[in-house]
Amino acid sequence: MHIHNNISLKPFNTFAIDCQCQKLIEIDNNEDFEQLFLQEVFNDKFFILGGGSNVLFINDFEGTILHLKTKGIEIINKTDEDVYVRAAGGEIWDDFVDFCVKNGFYGVENLAGIPGLVGSCPVQNIGAYGAEVKDVIYQVEGFHLPDGKTFVLYNEECQFAYRDSIFKNGLKGQCLISHVVFKLSKNANYQLNYKQLADELEHSGKELSLPLIAETVVKIRNSKLPDITKIGCAGSFFKNPVISHAEFEQLSSKFKDIVHHPTAEGEKLAAGQLIELCGWKQRRIGDVSVYPNQALVIVNWGNAKGCEVLDYSRQIINSVKEKFGVTIEAEVRIVG
Ligand code: EPU
Repeated sequence: MHIHNNISLKPFNTFAIDCQCQKLIEIDNNEDFEQLFLQEVFNDKFFILGGGSNVLFINDFEGTILHLKTKGIEIINKTDEDVYVRAAGGEIWDDFVDFCVKNGFYGVENLAGIPGLVGSCPVQNIGAYGAEVKDVIYQVEGFHLPDGKTFVLYNEECQFAYRDSIFKNGLKGQCLISHVVFKLSKNANYQLNYKQLADELEHSGKELSLPLIAETVVKIRNSKLPDITKIGCAGSFFKNPVISHAEFEQLSSKFKDIVHHPTAEGEKLAAGQLIELCGWKQRRIGDVSVYPNQALVIVNWGNAKGCEVLDYSRQIINSVKEKFGVTIEAEVRIVG
């Protein structure tokens, strides 16, 4: 374990917000967890940071930040159809995707290129291009912080939903996820219901393969989303809102061409479109704006403070509410 006192969090969050943290502890191995309990670190203010790709720090952090760096990917079981792979929480998500693509394990190729760590993927049930990680998570393992005991939660117990899980609700702030076990398919089983992905693959004229899918997904991502190594942001800042069918009927009678997808809970709208229609692609305030290719993403062009990003996001929420009567919510975790 490495301990840093009074350190800038800028390199630890993809929004590149320059704020201070009292203490940052890098956790390299599982024995560190026991040590941290003995030192009663979880009795005071703390925050568990994964890749820092889904957080917005709005103040200096007066407490301890725990940054996971544990590594390891192992195959723990195989059947004729499936393979069970256990990955450490500190593994980089995209390295795990690479491992699966190279080994011919199907199920995470549509999620290529997503920043962040394996340990964070169950928390907001990461999803993109027609796939969600909940469809391949077998179990989540970790430490229950209030009592220091280990836990195992099976997929059904994680209460996965769109960008949501028990780790954001009933168990919020109570779990340190040490490992995730994935159940992947050994047989070709492509998810091609995202239209742009299906179209690009068809136009390529190439035979479908795991590397081709992952490559094409990354190409589409790059055309819409900023390169987080160059531009500060945290991917989609907001969740796409879901409204009732009746509400949608009313809305679409006033606004033609509203993008929508029917889901079990109602009609899912494209928050990016609503934000764009409110004129935000033309509105930069200081170093904050939405990304020109994707209004769902808020960008820090240089020296924006976390509170300025928060303020900008609140103005977006208010204008979308005013114009469309629809409430959009932050998807990014706001940490004060
Ligand atoms: N749109 C606009 N203007 C914009 C952005 C989008 O009009 O500025 C409309 C377009 O009509 C587009 C539709 O919105 O067809 C949907 O856009 P897109 O396919 O880019 O997806 P999204 O709903 O904006 C979601 C995820 C992304 C994920 C993509 C692809 C959420 C909150 N975001 O975005 O996830 O990559 O789908 O599957 O669900 C993330 O969570 O950080 C993230 C990037």
